Amino acid sequence: MKNMLITGGCGFIGSNFIRYLLKESDYTGRIINLDKLTYAGNPENLADVQKEYPKRYIFIQADICDEPRVGEIFDSYRIDGICHFAAESHVDRSIVKPDAFIQTNIVGTFNLLEAARSRLGQTIRFHHISTDEVYGSLGKDGYFTETTSYQPNSPYSASKASSDHLVRAYHKTYGLPVTISNCSNNYGPYQFPEKLIPLIVLNGMEGKSLPVYGDGQNVRDWLYVKDHCVAVWMIMKHGKNGETYNIGGDGEMANLKLVEMICDILDETNPLSDRRSRRDLIEFVKDRPGHDLRYAIDYSKLKQDLKWHPEVTLETGIRETVNWYLQNRSWIDRVKSGEYQTWIKTHYC
Ligand code: NAD
Ligand code: DAU
Repeated sequence: MKNMLITGGCGFIGSNFIRYLLKESDYTGRIINLDKLTYAGNPENLADVQKEYPKRYIFIQADICDEPRVGEIFDSYRIDGICHFAAESHVDRSIVKPDAFIQTNIVGTFNLLEAARSRLGQTIRFHHISTDEVYGSLGKDGYFTETTSYQPNSPYSASKASSDHLVRAYHKTYGLPVTISNCSNNYGPYQFPEKLIPLIVLNGMEGKSLPVYGDGQNVRDWLYVKDHCVAVWMIMKHGKNGETYNIGGDGEMANLKLVEMICDILDETNPLSDRRSRRDLIEFVKDRPGHDLRYAIDYSKLKQDLKWHPEVTLETGIRETVNWYLQNRSWIDRVKSGEYQTWIKTHYC
């Protein structure tokens, strides 16, 4: 691959992936980052990269649903590989207003597949980023494998499931070279503070209440974002054409326990002025409708075939993440105040 199209590269995982590819991996080609800059996209996440790699990093503000524009980008930049992150990604938002999830996650993925299919002679390798949520919910035991049947329970996961099926179908029907990865909950630097971990860290830093849905016993498997990036790049390089790989973090934990862990780390590193324990800030709030009870990933295929395993334990990763948010208050302030949108307007228009 010489000209890799990365969609959604200004979001949380996409920006971590671009930084990893340019600064730490053995990828030597160009990156074309196509991002619509929705509320979740923030070019400031890659401001350092833009400065350091002016020849190898190109940013284009565009919508993956805009078919002619996508085609133009494929041709102008001679795209020969795609890593497709762009999506509406927040489950709660999909429950309130699913429309954009259907457009971006399904129609947008379809557009990219069509763009690749109509240039089949050029061999465009397509990697699709998906989620463990497509498999539905586990009970107390068991793990999702690559052959677990799909049972999505939210508009978000249903839209991601649809896009996975389209990617698979384009491989089976048209011979498009594809790989798919389904990973668990990511956490780490640059995550938009609508998701559980950054929300709790930020509210905790400010001594605000810490909302926990239901009884807090829902379990997620937490994957440090850098470990995810390493896995994706390995799959793009060495994964078998047409295959799906699960990526897990060995980090299963109930939400309440995780929130308590963050409270304790914050109390230790950044105590409240009145020395109150942050655990007192925990507030049990109305549950999410259709809230999946438990996700857990069996990633043995990736371990056996590509020798990947997660390096960062949950305790270490959470400490590093809390530390990152503590040290990046101006990023937080701009994201929260909406000032980053002003930055976009002044910089790109
Ligand atoms: P995010 O919400 O932080 O970022 C999404 C990015 O996509 C943003 O930069 C946004 O501007 C861009 N985007 C949205 N609609 C677009 C459109 N129509 N055209 C172009 N760009 C558009 O998401 P994330 O957490 O970084 O997730 C990235 C991918 O990983 C998604 O496909 C998501 O489903 C998947 N995933 C995420 C997690 C997680 O824990 N965050 C876990 C499993 C899978
Ligand atoms: O499993 C992978 C998925 O992880 C990705 O596909 C999604 O894009 C990503 O957003 C994430 O989905 P979740 O719904 O699991 O993540 P979220 O951070 O929204 O919630 C994590 C858990 O915490 C979930 O059980 C709901 C709960 N929660 C969440 C919020 C925002 C709370 O208890 N309180 C909250 O305020």
